[in-house]
Amino acid sequence: MENGKKAIVMSGIRSTGFLHLGNYFGAIRNYVRMQEEYTCYFMVADIHSLTTHPDTKELKPNVHRVLAENIACGLDPEKVALYCQSHVYETAELYMLLNMLAYKGELEKTTTFKDKVRQHPENVNAGLLTYPVLQAADILLHRASLVPVGKDQEQHLEMSRNFANRFNHRYGNVFPEPYAFNFGEELIKVPSLDGTGKMSKSENQYATIFLSDSDELIRKKIMKAKTDAGPSAPNMPKPDYIENIFLLMKLVSAPDTILKFEEDYNKAAIRYGDLKKQLAEDMVAFVTPIREKAESIRTDEAYLRRIMEMGAEKARISAAATMEKVREAIGLKYY
Ligand code: TYM
Repeated sequence: MENGKKAIVMSGIRSTGFLHLGNYFGAIRNYVRMQEEYTCYFMVADIHSLTTHPDTKELKPNVHRVLAENIACGLDPEKVALYCQSHVYETAELYMLLNMLAYKGELEKTTTFKDKVRQHPENVNAGLLTYPVLQAADILLHRASLVPVGKDQEQHLEMSRNFANRFNHRYGNVFPEPYAFNFGEELIKVPSLDGTGKMSKSENQYATIFLSDSDELIRKKIMKAKTDAGPSAPNMPKPDYIENIFLLMKLVSAPDTILKFEEDYNKAAIRYGDLKKQLAEDMVAFVTPIREKAESIRTDEAYLRRIMEMGAEKARISAAATMEKVREAIGLKYY
């Protein structure tokens, strides 16, 4: 807290598809807790999604879905500013000004940029290269210091800090340093069910559990998760893919359930079929209420419009105040 004011929180989710357990546990779960204690700005990063999704046919339903799923997870649009990136035009102005503080070399070295170049060599656009600058603009626009995100966003946050520090150094102190945040010490990476990488909106759909998956699909996905014949002796270390199943269980199952399976594993008496069945039932119990709530919100266009208007209004007030300070610090004031 600074001068008795609440700390400022900002985060965003791209509108590139269905939200999944990684988005929930890495980001949204934190948003829902933070809304009680902080001044919060949460947005749908619709402009960011254009860097990789030039076809905009699905944009509107995707934006509606992200909003509806956030609210279904417990985000209260009255308590926070929940808005669309494209509705706050100051974002573009700050993005442009921060571009002068971002160097080609560092942008080209960003892991997400290198991944995207590998995946889509035919669409290496400048927006993709400067993706972290736009993200820094989102955060700095509200002079936020806490950014609830998953582990995959750590590098982007480091870059946001660098841009903020460079701005302050060159033009005078305007921005606090933003830090990635998670309740509990560490940033989270929710692993995918196939034992490789993380759950993701676009890759390996069968290894990712979406908040919109039916009960039957959740059961199917979990029962297919990779296992083996089981440990051949007591107290053996777990292979990664088994560790991942336990990690998912820690997110949705009761502590005594986890303890039971941990003990079975350490006694080399575990039955993976039972482990997965239990995880599937706990996962269904977790996802079902979110899916059902999101479905009813998603189709209420009038309500979503009201939410977006209200959120943009709140965000614009904060954005306008920051941009005044930014223009003043740079010297873009001639009378
Ligand atoms: P995006 O849309 O890829 O993901 C949204 C949030 O979900 C988290 N996340 C995960 N956390 C744990 N395990 C996973 N498997 C997993 N997959 C996704 C992400 O870390 C993120 O918190 N660049 C951002 C969007 C963005 C943003 C911002 C974030 C735009 N402007 C400003 C923070 C502040 C992105 O692509 O997130």
